[in-house]
Amino acid sequence: MNIEGEEMRKPIRLIAAACSNMGIGKNGHLPWSLPKEFQFFLDTITAVSAPGKKNLIVWGRVSWFSCPEMIFPLANCLNLVLSRKLSALPPRAHYLCKDFGSIIHLASEPPLCHTVETIWILGGPEVYKESLEHPWCDLIYLTDIMADFDCDVFFPKFDRSVFRKQKGFPGVPDEIHEENGIKFQFQVFKKEA
Ligand SMILES: NC(=O)c1ccc[n+]([C@@H]2O[C@H](COP(=O)([O-])OP(=O)(O)OC[C@H]3O[C@@H](n4cnc5c(N)ncnc54)[C@H](OP(=O)(O)O)[C@@H]3O)[C@@H](O)[C@H]2O)c1
Repeated sequence: MNIEGEEMRKPIRLIAAACSNMGIGKNGHLPWSLPKEFQFFLDTITAVSAPGKKNLIVWGRVSWFSCPEMIFPLANCLNLVLSRKLSALPPRAHYLCKDFGSIIHLASEPPLCHTVETIWILGGPEVYKESLEHPWCDLIYLTDIMADFDCDVFFPKFDRSVFRKQKGFPGVPDEIHEENGIKFQFQVFKKEA
C-alpha cells in the first residue's frame, strides 16, 4: 500500500463491557455502575499518538442519547451519531451518518483522513456487528463483567479463532478488578491474519 493508502485506512476498534451472558444493556442504559471500568473506557477512546490527532467515535442513536452529558466534551474525539431517522445533528455531536459505509467514506477521505487516527465503535449491537465484518477491524476491547445481569441487548457473537485473546496487551491491565462487589477484567481480542 502506498503512503496515501496508509493514511486512508483507519483501524476500526470496538469497545464494550459485557456480563456473563454477553449482555451489555437494559432499557437503554448500562445495567451496572462501575466508575473505574468507565474511566478505562474514556481513557482508551480519548488516547491519540500525537497532538492534533483525533479519534472518530461512533455511537448508535440510542447509545448516544443515553450517555451521561457530563462526559462531554471528550478530548481528542469527534462524535459521530449513526441513525436512519434523525435529520438534524444532535447537540454536541460533530457528524450524523445514515449508514456504516458513510462512516468509512468520512474517515478515509479529505479532510478527515489527515486527522483521524482510530475509529472507535461504541455500540450497540447492530453497529458492532457491521464493524466486526469490516476488513479494517483489528481489535475488540471487551471488558468481562464477571456477574449476571438482566439484559435486553447483547454483544454479537464473534469468531474467537479469528479474534484471539491477548495477554499483556499494552496499556491494558491483566488483573481482575473489583468495584461495588462486582469483579471484572479488561480483555483485548486481536484479529489474526
Ligand atoms: N456495555 C456496553 O459496553 C455498551 C455499549 C454500547 C451500548 N450499550 C447499551 O446498549 C443499548 C443500546 O443499544 P441499542 O441496540 O438499543 O441501540 P444503539 O445501537 O445505540 O442505537 C440503535 C440505533 O442506531 C441507529 N443505527 C444502528 N446501526 C445503524 C446502521 N448500521 N445504520 C444506520 N443507523 C444505525 C438506528 O437509529 P435510528 O432508529 O435513529 O435509525 C438504530 O435504531 C443501551 O442499553 C446501552 O446502554 C452498552
